Amino acid sequence: MKKDDDILKYFKPNLKDARRRTKKVTEMTSFEIDSKYLGLGNHKKYLIQTYGCQGNEADSEIISGILEKMGFTKALSPEDSDLIILNTCAIRENAENRIWGEVGRLQMYQKNNPNLIIGLAGCMPQEPYVVERILKSQPNVGLVFGTHNLHMLPEYISEAFYSKERVIEVYSKEGEIVENLPKVRNHQFKAWVNIMFGCDEFCTYCIVPYTRGKERSRRPESIIKEVEELVAGGYQEITLLGQNVNAYGKDFQDIDYTLGDLLIALDKTGISRIRYTTSHPRDVDLKTVLAMRDCKSVMPHLHLPVQSGSDEVLRRMNRRYTKDMYMEKINMLKEHVKGISITTDIIVGFPEESDEDFKKTLELVKEANFEGAYTFIYSKRKGTPAASFEDSISDDVKKERLLKLNEVINDGFKKGNLRFLNEVVEVLVDGPSEKNDEILAGYSEHNKLVNFKGPKELIGKIVKVKITKALTWSLQGELYD
Ligand code: 5AD
Ligand code: SF4
Repeated sequence: MKKDDDILKYFKPNLKDARRRTKKVTEMTSFEIDSKYLGLGNHKKYLIQTYGCQGNEADSEIISGILEKMGFTKALSPEDSDLIILNTCAIRENAENRIWGEVGRLQMYQKNNPNLIIGLAGCMPQEPYVVERILKSQPNVGLVFGTHNLHMLPEYISEAFYSKERVIEVYSKEGEIVENLPKVRNHQFKAWVNIMFGCDEFCTYCIVPYTRGKERSRRPESIIKEVEELVAGGYQEITLLGQNVNAYGKDFQDIDYTLGDLLIALDKTGISRIRYTTSHPRDVDLKTVLAMRDCKSVMPHLHLPVQSGSDEVLRRMNRRYTKDMYMEKINMLKEHVKGISITTDIIVGFPEESDEDFKKTLELVKEANFEGAYTFIYSKRKGTPAASFEDSISDDVKKERLLKLNEVINDGFKKGNLRFLNEVVEVLVDGPSEKNDEILAGYSEHNKLVNFKGPKELIGKIVKVKITKALTWSLQGELYD
């Protein structure tokens, strides 16, 4: 720990500590806000900008919850804000570059409002070089905290606003579980539910195991209680969240309870729809697949990142499965969960990926019949093992591969949509479509975007829609009664 005169708190992130994994039982605590912090945010407004994965979206709901407990209210614009928090993502360099750009841009609001505090939260501050850069060249950032200390926000806010010092505190540790955190949910009938945190996979390209700590699961009774409350509050759909949800429960030392058990228990709460993300293929087990088959509320869609179709690349990525092992999981899913739709993540241009390796990825995409994918060009992340791998593929080749891959992925997307033509599907209606507010939009059980004409009263309800047209990215249909 280092304490500078002009910085109130300064715990530096450290990748060596972030990498450590012990057998220690996860510490569980319960959030309570000290009464001295209540009201500190009265007459103050906050804005949160969220980048990256659903985990960050869920964290932003917690940050909002804590701030509103302190008396803050949501601002309508940066001009109107006393506090702007960027909840950041570190997964790829271009995500980080966008955020640095935004940090620079937001400075202009401090000209009119010198009391405006700009805060950086989430995964980026977990990287040592980010904190160094803020200390050296970003004096306009007044508050920095990471993924392990959201619950300490009241103390940080109090110090940042009332001592007028910079507050920088980031822990690099395995992590604990904090229950009872307040949340302001962004959606009225769909909710994120964290079931576990962290990742122990250590894929060689990925920064997440360093930014989010070890795999640790919330107790089933806490999750079930949260979902029961959501049902009572009129929620229709939950998405269970974790970096590797299929490893749920594997860290419990006192009970034998995994994702399959949790799905069965949550199905009984009366929630209409359950989704879960994201999964590591190695941890997909029969119990989970059978729970998907048997629980009506568990939706027939799975996002199962494969990353590459080449065994050699998979080995260097430390994915710990081969293409054949991946296909076995896909076949098991398709055998038991009839009509399941499967989407994936793929990285192209991993260090020394050959044309032959890339061809194997294209072949796998066709064989697996993916109905959608997030595709990425490999991005070097400081401190990860792959950052030191020889990487001689040119940027042009990487871009070309991405284009080619996307073409094949789009074919799969369209093919996946075509299978619903003339079928009746159930849609949870989200709201008016982005392009035309006469049209409603929502997602089917298979996670297909469906547009159709209907009255706004249907928003938040599950309705039947007959599909009349299949486009590449969406389906069109008519209300069916
Ligand atoms: N470069 C490119 N893509 C990455 N992902 C994770 N780390 C990197 C990286 N360094 C992708 C993986 C993962 C998704 C969330 O982001 O495909 O599944
Ligand atoms: Fe990263 Fe691999 Fe963990 Fe996914 S499973 S978060 S890609 S280390």
